[in-house]
Amino acid sequence: MVHTDVLIIGSGIAALQTALEAAIEKNVIIITKSIVRNSNSYLAQGGVAASVAPMDTVDNHVEDTLAAGCRHNNSQAVYEVIEKAPDAIQDLIESGFTFDYDAEGKLALGLEGAHGERRILHSKGDSTGKELIEHLLNKVQQNPNIKIIENQMAIKLLKNVHGECIGAVCKDGEDTAFRYFAHHTVLAAGGCGALYEYTSNSPEITGSGLALALKAGAELADMEFIQFHPTLLFVDGETKGLISEAVRGEGARLVTDTGYEIMNNVHPLRELAPRHIVAQTIFSYLEDGIPVYLDIAAITDFETRFPSIAALCESTGIHVSRGRLPVAPGAHFLMGGIKTDLKGRTAVPFLYAVGEAACTGVHGANRLASNSLLEGLVIGKNLGMLLGQQTLRPQYTFQIHDEEVIETLRAPCLPDISELKSKMMKHAGIMRNDHDLTCLINWLESFSIDSILHANYEIMPLEETNQMLSLLTAYMIAGSAIERLESRGSHCRSDFPHEKEDWEGKMISWNVNRLTN
Ligand code: SIN
Repeated sequence: MVHTDVLIIGSGIAALQTALEAAIEKNVIIITKSIVRNSNSYLAQGGVAASVAPMDTVDNHVEDTLAAGCRHNNSQAVYEVIEKAPDAIQDLIESGFTFDYDAEGKLALGLEGAHGERRILHSKGDSTGKELIEHLLNKVQQNPNIKIIENQMAIKLLKNVHGECIGAVCKDGEDTAFRYFAHHTVLAAGGCGALYEYTSNSPEITGSGLALALKAGAELADMEFIQFHPTLLFVDGETKGLISEAVRGEGARLVTDTGYEIMNNVHPLRELAPRHIVAQTIFSYLEDGIPVYLDIAAITDFETRFPSIAALCESTGIHVSRGRLPVAPGAHFLMGGIKTDLKGRTAVPFLYAVGEAACTGVHGANRLASNSLLEGLVIGKNLGMLLGQQTLRPQYTFQIHDEEVIETLRAPCLPDISELKSKMMKHAGIMRNDHDLTCLINWLESFSIDSILHANYEIMPLEETNQMLSLLTAYMIAGSAIERLESRGSHCRSDFPHEKEDWEGKMISWNVNRLTN
């Protein structure tokens, strides 16, 4: 049994930023499902968006964020994050982080989809996420108030009789359980991209933190809004990793075998249209059996500007010198998640969420590129400061409330994760409809969602727990997607192809009661 002031589950940018800020006043433990460098943040290529160019403004960046989000965003949250972006960049620079500079010694600014200005700050070309994590991790590892524990997965959030979160139970690969009691527990375990067959995400990102929050009584929202990144490297029917939107920002075109430019007459911004439009266009060609390529011939310094992508391509036998990279869209980012305010507070006292796991409303129905590292930095700092200031709770509050659990009940026979991923891709993917979603929901319900919700994960193998948590998150995605009878941003329904006024501003929410009845 371990006691700590702050327990953080996850190790991406939001987790590290929260930890560093909180550790000024408190002791922090960071727990991660695999190794600390396995996170979506580490894989992020594009960069951090901030209105730092002379002609750019916070209002322009806000407007682009709202337009990309189809105005489903929480505009107060958007303003809070975007307004703080230039300061977040300045803080990083002052703390020794190096962004890329142009030949004139000015910050080099990339362009990505749906941005009206060049405002993407990047590092070592296309390694911004890796560089940022290494920078923050270096500070975390030097901080005596922060301890990192790898290869343990949170399987349960602990609560006391007052319904307050008091920590978590975690398990290692040998199924040994560890109890962590914490004054404050933070879920920063990312989204759920790896629930899909085609994804840019780390394989660990199967939505387990989201399902844990649901089980603990938090509210989740906007689960239907899964962003599909238009361009993942696509080799032998499998996606192999991200090809940053910045590649299109530097002039790459989407073409077929014959050289036809598929974004002709689709959107005035062509390859840099909002992501859902580009993703759907590519998807429609692939559905018809027509491969799609990124034609990079116009980018003469490709290997210098995008060294990681060039290496990724070469490692899969795709030679960038040939000028064409085969692509397919894949699950990339969850705009929804655990509902929080702008300091990461959830509906459960002393339980917080931050980063992709959280739904602050910043991203609306479709996230603007390179706003997610930014959100992690800004809200992570807000939350870390809040936790640093909080007084610690008296010891008697750390009395576990034994919930009613269906100890013996197990789902009949849990599906293999690869079957789940393929069904999610097919039935709750880029283009959805009532029939497909109904099939998916019926299939998920055959595993007895209610039992999964109430099962006692402490007594079952970790692998089984992981599968159950994945099913719960998949169920929330499918359930939200069938309920939203319109298309908006990343949520596309072939049977309801337009935005509808009566759905404007409406959020579909989940809590434990909704699933219990
Ligand atoms: C990209 O580099 O295309 C991804 C950036 C992002 O999703 O924000």
